[in-house]
Amino acid sequence: MALLEIRNVTRRFGAFTAVDNVSLSIEAGEFFTLLGPSGCGKTTLLRMIAGFDTPDAGQILLDGVDIADTPPENRSVRTVFQSYALFPHMTVAGNIAFPLQMAKTPASEIKSKVAAALDDVRLGGFAARYPHELSGGQRQRVAIARALVTHPQLLLLDEPLSALDAKLREQMQIELINLQKSVGITFVYVTHDQGEALALSHRIAVMNAGRVEQLDRPDRIYSYPTSRFVADFIGTCNLLDGKIVGIQQDTVPEAAMEIDVPGLGIVKTALAQDAQVSGTGLVALRPEKICISAADGSPKNTAENHFSGKVKELLYMGDVTVYIVETSGGARIEALLPNSVAGRPKLFEVGDAVDLTWCRDAGHFVHEAVNKEAKADHAGHEVGNG
Ligand SMILES: Nc1ncnc2c1ncn2[C@@H]1O[C@H](COP(=O)(O)OP(=O)(O)OP(=O)(O)O)[C@@H](O)[C@H]1O
Ligand SMILES: [Mg+2]
Repeated sequence: MALLEIRNVTRRFGAFTAVDNVSLSIEAGEFFTLLGPSGCGKTTLLRMIAGFDTPDAGQILLDGVDIADTPPENRSVRTVFQSYALFPHMTVAGNIAFPLQMAKTPASEIKSKVAAALDDVRLGGFAARYPHELSGGQRQRVAIARALVTHPQLLLLDEPLSALDAKLREQMQIELINLQKSVGITFVYVTHDQGEALALSHRIAVMNAGRVEQLDRPDRIYSYPTSRFVADFIGTCNLLDGKIVGIQQDTVPEAAMEIDVPGLGIVKTALAQDAQVSGTGLVALRPEKICISAADGSPKNTAENHFSGKVKELLYMGDVTVYIVETSGGARIEALLPNSVAGRPKLFEVGDAVDLTWCRDAGHFVHEAVNKEAKADHAGHEVGNG
């Protein structure tokens, strides 16, 4: 049985639907992330799990029990907010002891529990400090220790690292992964930062306008987006609209499809599920899966895709360069190449004639017509994405 089950939960504010018929389940011990753009309903969903807000429809079950009538303080759920929300007049130890005192923990146990929670977040020597004497990262670790000290079943974290600078955020991400492993508590993490979601999570629910668009492992979300929104939102992606013009079942090593992409030509991809000739959709192609080489007119492997073009624009980023290549038909393809040749800051200049090559399974075909039907089905039968 899942630890947390969200069944067809909807929350409306007046005529606006902030969370729209969301269903998903989270297993005990999971690091689960709700990822989506600002305003897509992440915090609203989290507040309902915590009990600070109530669904207009649907159910939330913790350990199989509907928690609609359980007040927040009686749920085995704690929340860490972006803003830390520490008590400024209390020491670190006082802040962490507070929920234990509320739970009427015997005074004799409080000291050791506070010390253990401080150890968990590597703040052993900081018990006597006040919040204003701590850095942002340290304050957030105190907030996490305070949330964990009562050993909740579920820890909710709402953009806990967004106030920190990039370097510190990366360090805290590694700490969070290790902390979650060592305490074994289920984390539900909210972020609008896709890199953070990919780095931290066992599974990610990508949300858009109150709905779950896709729920899967990070590598699946990145490599096999099931909608235009997900392909576009996660990382950078070439989205090549086209139409299926050929299906070859007997190609080696696996079946292939041919997609006619206006402005580019025929693009070969791996066979998509339910593919039919004349079906429409898009080829989602990541810039780092494309090889760029100097145009040399040599014959190419026909199992692969190759197109020639000219570098139109480039973005030098130190370790890598992003090249925008325009093909003779006018398609613009973004490709990314590491600047790995010694003595050369980058490999190509604007105006250079180049060949673009990528293998058949580098591009992932997203069937748009099928997706629309799936969505209509979702609404009609009130089934979730989980
Ligand atoms: N109490 C409220 N009254 C009216 N509208 C609300 C209320 N709370 C949230 N909303 C609206 O619901 C939508 C979802 O809000 P929510 O805070 O869940 O977004 P979010 O995904 O957490 O965004 P962000 O990444 O910016 O924090 C927003 O359009 C917001 O304006
Ligand atoms: Mg929010």
